[in-house]
Amino acid sequence: MKTLLVGKIHPDAEELLNNIELQKADLIEEKDYLDIEAVVLRVFTPFKETEIKRFPKLKYFVTCSVGLDNIDLDMLKERGIELIHCPGTNSNSVAEHTLYLLLSLLRSSKPFPELKGKTIGIIGFGNIGKIVARKLLGFEAKVIAFDVVEQDPEVLKELNVKMTEMDELLKESDIITIHVPYNRHTSNLIDEDKLQKMKEGSFLINTSRAEVIDNEALVRCQDKFKGIALDVYTNELRKGLKGNVVLTDHVGAQGEESFRKMCVKPVKEFLSKF
Ligand SMILES: NC(=O)c1ccc[n+]([C@@H]2O[C@H](COP(=O)([O-])OP(=O)(O)OC[C@H]3O[C@@H](n4cnc5c(N)ncnc54)[C@H](O)[C@@H]3O)[C@@H](O)[C@H]2O)c1
Repeated sequence: MKTLLVGKIHPDAEELLNNIELQKADLIEEKDYLDIEAVVLRVFTPFKETEIKRFPKLKYFVTCSVGLDNIDLDMLKERGIELIHCPGTNSNSVAEHTLYLLLSLLRSSKPFPELKGKTIGIIGFGNIGKIVARKLLGFEAKVIAFDVVEQDPEVLKELNVKMTEMDELLKESDIITIHVPYNRHTSNLIDEDKLQKMKEGSFLINTSRAEVIDNEALVRCQDKFKGIALDVYTNELRKGLKGNVVLTDHVGAQGEESFRKMCVKPVKEFLSKF
C-alpha cells in the first residue's frame, strides 16, 4: 500500500507505519500523486476537492485529528475512499484544557470570583462537553447544557447537569463554554444576538472552532465580558480583543496521552485493513 504521511504524528504511530511503502511530507504539494493509495494526515490542512483530485488512486484517508471540518466528506464518499478517523480520542485533553482556561480566566480577574455556586453553561454536550461536566463535579458549581440531541437522563443525573433551551443558558450562565462541531449549521452559531443575550460580566470560553462564533460581533460585544478565553481564533479576532483575554494556540488536544491515542488508533485501524 503506497502511503503518504503528511505532518508529524506520534512516534509510536509512525513506527507502526515502518513496514509499508511510506513517503513523508510536511504539506500536500501542488502536484499529482499518481501512485499514492493512502494518505495519513495530521496537520489541519484542507483535504477538499482540489487536494482529493491530486490522488487518483486513493483508497484510504486516515486522519489523526478529531475535527473533520477540513475534509470534503461528501467527495470522499462519492469517490469510494474509506475515511478512518479517531472520534473521542482527545476529549480528555480538551476538557482539561477547558478547565485550565476557565480557572486562568477567573484568577486573572480582580477580585477573582470563585467557581463554587456559579452557573456554567455548556453548549454542545457531546464527548468533550460531558467530560467537562464530570470534571466540574467537585467544584460545587451549577452546570446547565444545551444540545440539539436528546440526552440520556441517567448520564445527566450522574453528571448533575440540567439541559436547558439555548436562550435560558445564555441568560443564566456566569461562564459559557462551547463544544460544538463546526459545520454549516454551527457556522456563526454564536452570533451578535446570542452574545447580547449573555450575562453582563460573564466569562466566555471557546475550544471548538473559531468559526462557530461571529468574530466581528465578539469584538463589538467584548466589553460585556469579564473575560474571554479561546484555544481557536483568527488573527483578526486576536488583534481586536482587549482586556482579560487568555489565548492558547489550538493546543487543547495536545495532551501527551491524547496525542498518542489520536495517532495510534486510526493508524492501527488502517493497517488492519490489508
Ligand atoms: N481545541 C482543540 O484542539 C480541539 C480538539 C478536539 C475537538 N475540538 C472541537 O471540539 C468539537 C467537539 O468535540 P466532541 O468530541 O465533543 O464532539 P461530539 O461530536 O462528541 O460532540 C459535539 C456535540 O455538539 C452537539 N451539537 C451539534 N450541533 C449543535 C448545535 N447547533 N447546538 C448545540 N449542540 C450542537 C452534538 O449534538 C454533539 O452532542 C469538535 O468537533 C472539534 O471541532 C477541538
